[in-house]
Amino acid sequence: MKKHNTLRLGTLSFLFAIVVFVVLVITMMIIAFVIFALFRLGILTRIEQPNILLPVAVLALSSILIGTVISIIVGRRPMKQIDEFIKALNSLANGHFETRIDAGKNGVAKELIDSFNTLASELQNTEMLRSDFVDNFSHEFKTPIVSIRGFAKLLKRQDLSDERRSEYIDIIIDESSRLAELSTNVLNLAKIENQNILTDVKPVNISEQIRTCILLLEKKWINKDLYVGADFGEFVCPANEELLKQVWINILDNAVKYADKRGLIEVTIRQDQNTLYVSIKNTGSEISAEMQKRIFDKFYQGDTSHSSEGTGIGLAISKKIVDLHNGAIRVSSGLNYVVFTIELPLA
Ligand SMILES: Nc1ncnc2c1ncn2[C@@H]1O[C@H](COP(=O)(O)OP(=O)(O)OP(=O)(O)O)[C@@H](O)[C@H]1O
Ligand SMILES: [Mg+2]
Repeated sequence: MKKHNTLRLGTLSFLFAIVVFVVLVITMMIIAFVIFALFRLGILTRIEQPNILLPVAVLALSSILIGTVISIIVGRRPMKQIDEFIKALNSLANGHFETRIDAGKNGVAKELIDSFNTLASELQNTEMLRSDFVDNFSHEFKTPIVSIRGFAKLLKRQDLSDERRSEYIDIIIDESSRLAELSTNVLNLAKIENQNILTDVKPVNISEQIRTCILLLEKKWINKDLYVGADFGEFVCPANEELLKQVWINILDNAVKYADKRGLIEVTIRQDQNTLYVSIKNTGSEISAEMQKRIFDKFYQGDTSHSSEGTGIGLAISKKIVDLHNGAIRVSSGLNYVVFTIELPLA
């Protein structure tokens, strides 16, 4: 491989030298012709020389020789950079997204190298997200399918008591709902990703919407013995009702999922002149500063062991929806608490 690269570098340098050589030959020939013509026409007559052809030929040949040697020496450096660039591009094309070029101090080349390095790190991030997605996705999809198949097989047995039969049917219903929820989330993400304008904007009673979402998740938070505080007045804000509902469900679902058992969830709403602020706080383990930077990325999950349900798209969808509303979503966390704050413009 190294020999191959040295060979290519040699070829590139040689080609560059040939180009310079040809240019020099042509230039010298033109100069020689012009000088010769000037003498012939009697315009240049002051230089006393028995044979003008000789000095012109010497001048031309020595220029060619010197020029070619210099171009070989000078050409090696840019050629080496181009060669490095080609090597890095090939390596990137072969899937080595960790490839980077050492940015020297050269002006134009530095800009090119910086762009290359940015491109490579973007590709590396996308690749990481893609592989995270495949890992999570195959796990999340496979688990309910395997359990549905298992319990459906068990249902075929004749000796099953009615109680067992109904228990297995309940499991199948739960697992298929999980599958449906998962597919809906992925489809929602794909849909929202391609949306750039917010439609169907009308005044929405945010307080009512949040109370409904809390009730929707009642089974989950009662199972964990959580206390949910939602003591706020009525707040109205222009929004797309259906989309915004997904935000509350996602953030509240996370609060329930990640709160410690017998913990606390508290929703507060306030507004100033231009903005509505909704804060959803839960007790539970802290989200580190490092994690806070990544939780809004698609398919990112803090827990890579897949012990908690989900695919890591809830917050990505929520952020996109809040962005469409020209709002902002922020997270802050400390010892034993996490708060998500959503800001929505009132006009
Ligand atoms: N309230 C919270 N407390 C602690 N960690 C949280 C909280 N909300 C989100 N996270 C972290 O952020 C990650 C991304 O959240 P997100 O809602 O996007 O995905 P998910 O809940 O894992 O899966 P999904 O929402 O697709 O079911 C979570 O995996 C978790 O590590
Ligand atoms: Mg979630």
